[in-house]
Amino acid sequence: MSQKVTFVIFGGTGDLTKRKLVPAFASLLHDKVLCDESLIIGIARGDFTNETYRDLLIKAARNEDERKLIEKVNIQFYRKDSTQPGALHDLKSMIECGEGCPHNRIFYLATGYNLFPAITKNLHEADLIQKSSKIVFEKPFGKDLHSAEALEAAIHQHFTEDMIYRIDHYLGKETVQNLNVLKFTNPFLESLLSNKHIKSVEVIADEDLGVGSRLGYYTSAGAVKDMIQSHLLQVLALFLMDKPESLDPKHIHDAKVSVLKSLQAASSEKHIFGQYESLSSELKMAGMESCSIETFARVVCHSALQKWSGVDLVMQTGKMLDKKYGKIVVHFKKIGDDFAHSLHGIQENKMVIDIHPTENIQLFFNTRKRFSKDEIEQVKFDFCGDCVFGPNTTDGYKRLISDILKGDHTLFTREDELKESWRIVDDIENIRDQVKLVTYKDGSNPDVIR
Ligand code: BG6
Repeated sequence: MSQKVTFVIFGGTGDLTKRKLVPAFASLLHDKVLCDESLIIGIARGDFTNETYRDLLIKAARNEDERKLIEKVNIQFYRKDSTQPGALHDLKSMIECGEGCPHNRIFYLATGYNLFPAITKNLHEADLIQKSSKIVFEKPFGKDLHSAEALEAAIHQHFTEDMIYRIDHYLGKETVQNLNVLKFTNPFLESLLSNKHIKSVEVIADEDLGVGSRLGYYTSAGAVKDMIQSHLLQVLALFLMDKPESLDPKHIHDAKVSVLKSLQAASSEKHIFGQYESLSSELKMAGMESCSIETFARVVCHSALQKWSGVDLVMQTGKMLDKKYGKIVVHFKKIGDDFAHSLHGIQENKMVIDIHPTENIQLFFNTRKRFSKDEIEQVKFDFCGDCVFGPNTTDGYKRLISDILKGDHTLFTREDELKESWRIVDDIENIRDQVKLVTYKDGSNPDVIR
């Protein structure tokens, strides 16, 4: 049955709202997950009327189909600095508009984390929080463990954990959701996933674009806090975790927490941090000082779990590289017995699970070259996701918003996961200060930086 929802977006004129949230909402409306009376209220300080705000969102559509969907959405604008005392009092009358009005409320904070305490306090003081209300926080949730703990304390004054959704859009990506199925329904694979056979696991999210219009945020965050603290650690935890007791969110979160708790950053010589060449001119043009923030990071962790002990757990991400590519690469140990030594050209087995732009899975293995006795060639099994399931154009937000509507916390980060990932990132940040930052050419292949 479709739901009637008021979706209140703080940061209503931001990029995320325009490019991801409103299109996802429009698509859910189209699919009848939401009913026609559902409403978006965008909140920001900008000078917009309901009409000009609507136009802004429609103009931001990425294609004609999306534009048509957004045109059908019921959209209103509330002009306010939502952190000022009493700022949200008038919002009540917009939300409680009488009979037929949506009663499910989702407050979506697509703002900087420093605004979270004031906004949640204002929501409380304006008497807008009901038992069934849900609140969504965009990343980053803090800047280190200490600030994340302070935020948690402030937010928990007004919201209980079951009302809170800490969103990480990587968990909404199709391949990431497939990881548990892949591991736990294919015994031939599951039995290989341990330090007995695996040398290293890499989780990679390379990007071809630069920092763009987010210089202010990015220069205070950097690649480690922007991508590793959330997306890459989450994907790594999912990949390494043991089979949960069930699909119950609690069991899945517990399994991930066990992995996160076991992770420690490796010693400093294992890590690489870099900055793309043109960042300094971008900063100059924006009237900002040059800075030593990393736009590329390749960090290594180790796990204290017996099963993964000694395996290099690598997370790599960077901006302004040669291409956008997200993947998990599992490197198996190379065999070095007498039999292997009598052959030529043996390579390590490798499994590559693409996260985007494709959803392919490839297994690289050795085979004998035709007509040869001891010459080996590496070949691959190649599963093409798009060929089997058709192209996938979603980016995770639609799926995650629909889970919020259902009250399903599985694909969201629990408080203890968040704290563990900040603990790991704080360690990495300390190490970063001891490692020389390398400058790389725009469009570099990451292997060159390594
Ligand atoms: C965001 C980061 O969370 O993820 C961005 O803040 C990054 O810096 C983006 O570009 C990458 O997401 P995706 O889905 O395009 O890989």
